[in-house]
Amino acid sequence: MSSRRQPIRAEDAQVIDYNQGDTAKQYKKTKTLPVRTRIEAYSFLKHIGDVQDKKVLDVACGAGDYTRILRRAGADPMVGFDVSEKMIALAREEDAREPLGIEYSVADARVAVAQQDFDLAVAAFLLVYARARDELATMCHGRAAASSQAAGS
Ligand SMILES: C[S@@+](CC[C@H](N)C(=O)[O-])C[C@H]1O[C@@H](n2cnc3c(N)ncnc32)[C@H](O)[C@@H]1O
Repeated sequence: MSSRRQPIRAEDAQVIDYNQGDTAKQYKKTKTLPVRTRIEAYSFLKHIGDVQDKKVLDVACGAGDYTRILRRAGADPMVGFDVSEKMIALAREEDAREPLGIEYSVADARVAVAQQDFDLAVAAFLLVYARARDELATMCHGRAAASSQAAGS
């Protein structure tokens, strides 16, 4: 047997499906862990900087945790989308509980988009879901097309 590593085929890549069972709710619960609130959120938001009066797009916004933080920090308008209906349902539930006027939709970041007019596009934990180079390229291109600035992982 050869000891050379074989490249992972796109169809074999493990990708979490947030529409599966309770995955979306379980993921949302992890957002309150100190490692996430004190280290991850601190670093992510520090990197993003001032969003006051900026038009911000949150790509792969999940249940909208960062989307709401950015809206509260003054982003206007604040728009979020995610490929998972369940994640977007959780985000909308939260917005119904505490309305912040965020626009949410279900969409896939792997689908090419026309040039848009955001000042900033952020995407926390999106790029790790690219199963192949072409998907990664589309995700990066989509974020770049959406705004004059992009931040994320
Ligand atoms: C680890 S969660 C992060 C959610 C959110 N950004 C956060 O930090 O709380 C990853 C999210 O990426 C979404 N996602 C994965 N692939 C996507 C794609 N191609 N287009 C849009 N969203 C995607 C998943 O549905 C999931 O909600």
